[in-house]
Amino acid sequence: MSKKTVKDYIRTIVDFPHEGILFRDVTTLFADPRGFRMAVDQMLHPYAGLQIDKVVGLEARGFILGGAIAHQLSVGFVPVRKKGKLPGRTISQEYTLEYGEAIVELHEDAIQPGEKILLVDDLLATGGTAEAGIKLIERLGGEIISCSFVIDLPDLGGRKRLEAMGMEVLSLCEFE
Ligand code: PRP
Ligand code: HPA
Repeated sequence: MSKKTVKDYIRTIVDFPHEGILFRDVTTLFADPRGFRMAVDQMLHPYAGLQIDKVVGLEARGFILGGAIAHQLSVGFVPVRKKGKLPGRTISQEYTLEYGEAIVELHEDAIQPGEKILLVDDLLATGGTAEAGIKLIERLGGEIISCSFVIDLPDLGGRKRLEAMGMEVLSLCEFE
């Protein structure tokens, strides 16, 4: 039998959170010691030898990956959170969801101008969440080296959207 890939550890849940949606569930990847290490190692690999000052993770599953990646790189971790969760002074960015709008926030002192940032999340769909995170980081003067995801859903256009902003986008696997 050939070796399992990161994609093999991801479970698909039918009709979650709405009928007709195939939800790509990374909890099964995170729960498996080989799967989780494989994902973190593969996300880290492209940045060997590059300067990264901080890892920024997008709520919520980007925290799990981003924490592990930051630890491995021996750099700090910074969360981008949904509105109202961060206790200090924040900057905010609105973004569009499937239905309606939402707001994400970043502590205004979390990134210093010129710091080199790796942005991390579990999944890239429309790219709206990542775009909001990118705007927050850039408003503080951070320089985004790359945006790294476990999963890309290319049909939803997120990669093209981020690349049009000049971003490097890396993912470990794709689902239709
Ligand atoms: C999911 C996923 C990404 C985002 C991708 O998070 O983890 O953060 O959606 O979608 P997009 O590319 O269309 O913006 P969700 O908004 O479900 O939040 P959660 O992780 O807090 O549950
Ligand atoms: N899984 C997790 N988050 C998501 C998905 C998915 O399939 N689609 C949009 N956000």
